[in-house]
Order: sequence, then structure tokens, then C-alpha cells
Amino acid sequence: MTLDTSQPLTISDAMKLATELHHAGDFESAYKIYERVLEVQPEHPDAIHFMAIMAHQQGQQEDAVRLMTRSIELVPDNAGFHSNLGNLMFACERFEEAEQAYRRAIELDPERPDVLNNYAVLCKGIQRYPDSEQLFLRAIALAPGFSEAHNNLAHLYMRQGRINESVAQACEALICEPGGERAREILGIAYCLLKRFDEAAQVYREWLEEEPGNPRALHYLAACTGQDVPARASDAYVQQVFDIFSESFDAKLARLEYRAPALVGQAVATCLGEGSGGLDVFDVGCGTGLCGPYLKPYAKTLVGVDLSSGMLAKARERGLYDELHQAELTAFLHAHPDASDLVVSADTLVYFGALDEVLRNAAITLRRGGHLCFTVEAIREDQAGDFLLQHNGRYAHAERYLRAALERAGLGVVSIEPEALRYEGGDKVAGWLVLSRKAA
Ligand SMILES: C[S@@+](CC[C@H](N)C(=O)[O-])C[C@H]1O[C@@H](n2cnc3c(N)ncnc32)[C@H](O)[C@@H]1O
Repeated sequence: MTLDTSQPLTISDAMKLATELHHAGDFESAYKIYERVLEVQPEHPDAIHFMAIMAHQQGQQEDAVRLMTRSIELVPDNAGFHSNLGNLMFACERFEEAEQAYRRAIELDPERPDVLNNYAVLCKGIQRYPDSEQLFLRAIALAPGFSEAHNNLAHLYMRQGRINESVAQACEALICEPGGERAREILGIAYCLLKRFDEAAQVYREWLEEEPGNPRALHYLAACTGQDVPARASDAYVQQVFDIFSESFDAKLARLEYRAPALVGQAVATCLGEGSGGLDVFDVGCGTGLCGPYLKPYAKTLVGVDLSSGMLAKARERGLYDELHQAELTAFLHAHPDASDLVVSADTLVYFGALDEVLRNAAITLRRGGHLCFTVEAIREDQAGDFLLQHNGRYAHAERYLRAALERAGLGVVSIEPEALRYEGGDKVAGWLVLSRKAA
């Protein structure tokens, strides 16, 4: 959309146009208009507030906080402003300030379901589950057709192991928003947890009827039926899942319960000692770059690779990586022979079943004496086979398979340790922390 800024506009028309452009993602044009509005009215609270939101969307968090605080100084009694401040603080992981802001918004307007929902999401993220449940229920009581709140509550119940209640909420969400993808995803997984596999498959088949080829429906259908299980999650599945995930607040908070980057960091430190900045390090499946801080001290160059542009954008904001590539990691490794001293992959090979090709390619990328460190989820003791695709879309592997696949790839096993990779609803997710080395 191009904008003829020579046309005279009233301030209110200009703001309407700017917010439309902003919502449509045309940040540049919207920004120009906010700026023009502020030239005429330097203290226009909405222009300042929306500029703050834009700064946040563009990863400029300090500017966002400064501008948003200013807009609230100008209009202290706007519940929406306080709620947006809560969202911003939440995204910056300043949880206490986020809570204060949501509480203030609710004081100003106790009947806003969106604010209650946002506050409930914060409480869910910081594991105050009873508070979170009460807030979602209040939001739903005020707005029974609020599908997002039903989905969030369904997810909360799943985390708490209250699977029947999770099913009920996901069904409510589907009544409010027929065909809603998040509700379908939660409902299918909840049915699997209840071992109602036919009903789960039915959810995914209906999804595929409406949206043939949907990568998530295909992947979850394979997971719940055990038929047509792919050797690894398709690129389209990974991109869809992580582009959505990268935007969610929950993703950031998942970190509280998520240990894979720290485990990989520890394994590297134990093996290599203190970093002296001389290595070419590849972080494959780098995601938002949570491994970056652990790897940077070792790196002459730190290269991140990921399929998801959303995740890469977040990694870029960290400013730690020398290069970031949007690429499939198996192919990337193959295309870079003899290029790295250390390859890490935290919580990423959980999207791979068969590991032979990716490990062979890691061996191609590694220089002699170089290390490969990764985590995968562990198959339960009562489960047979080398690996399996779980109902949540992630694969789990057997230790003996890891050893055999590493050996076939020509990589020596330094250690394979059982570790809790993260906590889901208080239960630990068992995994393997693997460190291997290419012979010198
Ligand atoms: C659970 S995240 C982990 C991210 C990061 N390593 C961490 O520990 O925070 C998995 C990441 O792997 C990426 N991924 C999965 N399969 C991939 C593939 N075949 N090629 C490249 N990236 C992949 C996803 O896009 C996602 O960002």
C-alpha cells in the first residue's frame, strides 16, 4: 500500500488510516503518519502508544517501554493502555511489572475479557495455575464465545493432566470458532492422551477434508494412527508450527521449564573447558537463539540455521550470531563440508525420526576432532523400536539406536546421559544429552 502524504487529513482520519496500515503490516507508512501526527500534536497519546507497539513488534524493546510509559503518563486511566503495557512487559519477561499492569487495567475496567485472558496467560506461564484458571473462567463468563480463552483454558487443563476438561474446553472453542486450528490440535492430542485414538484421527481427518494437505493435520494423523509416519517432520510442518510458536508469549515462558540449551551448554563446557573464541560453531535448529549465550564464548564465528523465519527473527534480535540462515539443517550440513569445529542441536532432532542422514551430514561438516552435541527425547522403557513419533508431534529415540546411528556415521560417542529436558505439568520429559566426536 502506498500513501500520498501530501493530502490534508484530520488528525482522527490520519490515526484511523495509520492504525489500518499498521494492522495490515505496512509499518513504514503507518510510522510516517504517526510521526506526522506527533509533529502537529507532540503529545497525542494514541500516536505515541501505537508507536510503542510498533517498536515492540520490531524488537526495539527499550523504545517500546519508554513510549508506552509516556502514553500512560498522558492518559493514566486507559485500561487498554495498561493491558498493552502488561503484554509488553510479559514479552520482555518482566513478569511482576506485567502483573501490575494487568491488575491496573482490571481495576479500571473489570469487565474486559481480553484483559482477563491476557492476565490468565501470564499466570499460566508462571505456573500459577489456579489463578490462571479463575481468570480464564471469568473471561469466559463475560464472553462465552471467546474461543481464544477456551483454547487457553483447554491448554491449561492439559498441562495439569485434567484431560477430560481439556477436551470439553477445546470442543467449546470449536463451537465458538468452527474449524479453529488450535482447538483441533489440542482436541486431537487430548483424545490421544485419553487413548481415544479413533476420535483423534477423526479430528485430523475432518481437518484434512476442509484443508487437504495441511501439514500439521497430516503430521498429527500419522502420529495417532502410526501410519505413513515420515522419516522426519516435513519442512512445511516445522515452518508452520514454529512461525506460530515464535510469536506466542507462552514460547518465551516455556523457557522456565525448558533445559535443553543449558544442558548443551554444560556438556560443551565440560568437554571443551572455558571458551577461547577460536571455533567455528554451528547451531542447527537454532530457533530463537537460546543456545547462543552458551556458545558465543567458544565461537570465532557463530552460525545459526533454522527453517522458521519467525524463530530466526527472534534469534537476530539477540545480536549474538554472525550468520543466520533460513535452511533445512540436513541439507545445510551437507552443503558445508569441513566447516565447523562444534555443531550443536538442542531440542531439534526431536523433529527427526531416522537420524542416519543428519548424523552422516554432521560428520561431513565437522572438522577432525570436532564435536557434535544434541538432545533428543527418550523412548519409554515399555516402548519398542528405535524411535517413534509421539502424539504431540515429536519423536522419541532409544539409546541403543543413538549409539548405532552415531557409529554408522563415523562419530565416536563421548557420552550419552539421561536428562530431564523440560517439565510438562510437573512431569519431567525424559531425554538424552548426547556428545560425540569426530576422530582426530
Ligand atoms: C524446539 S526448537 C529449539 C530451538 C533451540 N535450539 C532451543 O533450544 O531453544 C526447534 C527448532 O528447530 C527448527 N527445526 C526443526 N526441524 C528443522 C530442520 N529440519 N531444519 C532446520 N530447522 C529445523 C525449528 O524451526 C525450531 O526453531
